[in-house]
Amino acid sequence: MNPSSPSSALTPPGAGRFATRSGATHLLGLEGLPREQILAILDDAERDLARLQKDRSPTDELRLVTVVIAMFEDSTRTRVSFQIAAKRLGATVSTFSSHGLSLSKGETLRDTLRIFEANGADVVVVRHASPGAAAYLAEQIDSAVVNAGDGMHEHPTQGLLDLMTLRQAWGGSFAGRRIAIVGDIAHSRVARSAIFGLATVGVAVTLAGPATLMPAEVERLGGTVAATVDEAMEGADAVMALRIQRERMEGGLLPSFAEYARVWGIDAARVRRMKPDAVVLHPGPVNRGVELAPDVADGERSVILDQVANGVAVRCAVLRRSAGALAREAA
Ligand code: ASP
Ligand code: CP
Repeated sequence: MNPSSPSSALTPPGAGRFATRSGATHLLGLEGLPREQILAILDDAERDLARLQKDRSPTDELRLVTVVIAMFEDSTRTRVSFQIAAKRLGATVSTFSSHGLSLSKGETLRDTLRIFEANGADVVVVRHASPGAAAYLAEQIDSAVVNAGDGMHEHPTQGLLDLMTLRQAWGGSFAGRRIAIVGDIAHSRVARSAIFGLATVGVAVTLAGPATLMPAEVERLGGTVAATVDEAMEGADAVMALRIQRERMEGGLLPSFAEYARVWGIDAARVRRMKPDAVVLHPGPVNRGVELAPDVADGERSVILDQVANGVAVRCAVLRRSAGALAREAA
């Protein structure tokens, strides 16, 4: 597979995706990740959150572990929260973005990644514009790989923090709940990870968005497709709005942002269609006034900042899981 090709095949589910190397565990996606593993990560993250709310001083759990955070695509939340999580657990952390690397001098991605390995990285957190890039990396190097978003494929730690936020909002249980996921589903790795994770824990999903932004594989992904945002949100327990991914569009898929906001944007009237205690999620960054009206983004039903705070806790739990035996040795 060539991860520099945008048409790279998506990683198929199957044996080896969660394989351990040297006692370490990859996290390449939520597709196929067993329910008990998802729940164990969420429970672990809740413990991290409780501890961090009381005491932010670092532990030494990951003192034997080197974490490299390699961002080949822009990021604010994911980059910062992985850095903070690794430091809270006492790891050695190094963060790179594609700007400033010797890739610009013609070095290949594979050779770049092997530099990280040669520097002793036990866990490599990677974001890349190509679907399948994290799986490619996992095949190339002997470190645990955590996918921080690979093109339109998956963003598993985002999916986990979304599940954590929903379980908190729903009083600790997923039973009998339904969420509407609205917007640019075709280009959204957030939607894919959420759909896989939600199905695994038994949450019903209704998808809504412009036909041009619905993936061809929508039936394989799962969930019910609604014709309108109002239909999707009627009686729902939560809504997740997705950013319009302009950077992944060839053009011509949307008439205009103003038209999108009118037909698919979530405003206060649409929020009132949901259950009285339903919550509003968005992975960020938000195009204010497009996917979400500003008063909804900042309103009392919004749990967007809880998602960000839960991101640190989820990433603590994932780094601990990925470090495997090295974390246990330090204990
Ligand atoms: N930040 C998320 C991602 O990187 C969502 C987005 O950018 O719309 O996938
Ligand atoms: N939600 C998310 O992944 O945000 P960033 O792109 O800012 O990391």
